[in-house]
Amino acid sequence: MEDCHSPFTCARLNSLEGSDQVGQEAGRVVVALVQRDPGRLDGRVAIVPGGGGAIGSAMAAALSGAGAKVAVVDMTEERAEAAAAPIRAAGGEVLALGADVTKEEDCERIVAATVERFGRLDIIVNCVGGGAGKVLFDAEDYPRDAWDWIYELNVRSTLLATQAAVRAMKAGGRGGRVLNISSVRASLGINAGYSAYVAAKGAISSLTRQWATEWAKHGITVNAIAPTFVDTPQVAMLLDDPAFKAGVVSRIPLGRVGGTSDLTGAAIFFCSDASSFVTGQILGIDGGLTATQ
Ligand SMILES: NC(=O)c1ccc[n+]([C@@H]2O[C@H](COP(=O)([O-])OP(=O)(O)OC[C@H]3O[C@@H](n4cnc5c(N)ncnc54)[C@H](O)[C@@H]3O)[C@@H](O)[C@H]2O)c1
Repeated sequence: MEDCHSPFTCARLNSLEGSDQVGQEAGRVVVALVQRDPGRLDGRVAIVPGGGGAIGSAMAAALSGAGAKVAVVDMTEERAEAAAAPIRAAGGEVLALGADVTKEEDCERIVAATVERFGRLDIIVNCVGGGAGKVLFDAEDYPRDAWDWIYELNVRSTLLATQAAVRAMKAGGRGGRVLNISSVRASLGINAGYSAYVAAKGAISSLTRQWATEWAKHGITVNAIAPTFVDTPQVAMLLDDPAFKAGVVSRIPLGRVGGTSDLTGAAIFFCSDASSFVTGQILGIDGGLTATQ
């Protein structure tokens, strides 16, 4: 029995090979697997800080499409609502919340509001961050205020939002999923003034492994995706320069920069039962860029 795609299915079918039950049993196994669809998120509740942004709004829509109820969080309720409205229009259950997730009290408030509205919290996808292209300085002169801003935006936001979410997941007793957004820059230097950003994304990758180790005992998995350039407003000022973009694309084996839809499949995997035995992993979503290094 060679043509089966899951170890579970293979073992079960191998034990039946030669028996006249094979056809019937194989059918039952396949139906059970399909009905269980481990990539669905029905009944789960997700919170997406930065859900009003380019990547965050795609994440929120994808989580909703997979069946989750979603709290979209951004700096203002209006920005969150702009991302929530199309989800609601498509029939999703969604809540729009304004908050500054670099503030502990705001993080407590959005988690409490999500649990109050939807009854539980299972998933956090941390989409606040970035800023790299706005503060490019030579490493030896990197200014302290720019450094602190990048750390606030990327590390403090992820830290505080995740702490509040994980306390709620622990209280719920059903485990949970944390998905962070790192970057290929966590592992690749770039000769373009990125000191603070590479350090901040390195911290996100390290925290992903640390939290995975600490929170496994609560059934909470922690993973990260590490994209290369994704075609979004944050990096438009860089990618709008044809020479810069050509240089970037020439280093990516798949020959293009990413789109937000390139990230959502991995996000659903990491947020669902499909990744039950996967934690502490940083998945490059980079068209093969890091494979070349
Ligand atoms: N765009 C890329 O090329 C790229 C590549 C690799 C990694 N990333 C990472 O992906 C993440 C999302 O990037 P993006 O391109 O969608 O950025 P974005 O600016 O479009 O989205 C970020 C969102 O976070 C919100 N936000 C900022 N500070 C906040 C705060 N304190 N509280 C609440 N909300 C806040 C912003 O208003 C914005 O809506 C970032 O961590 C970024 O570093 C992006």
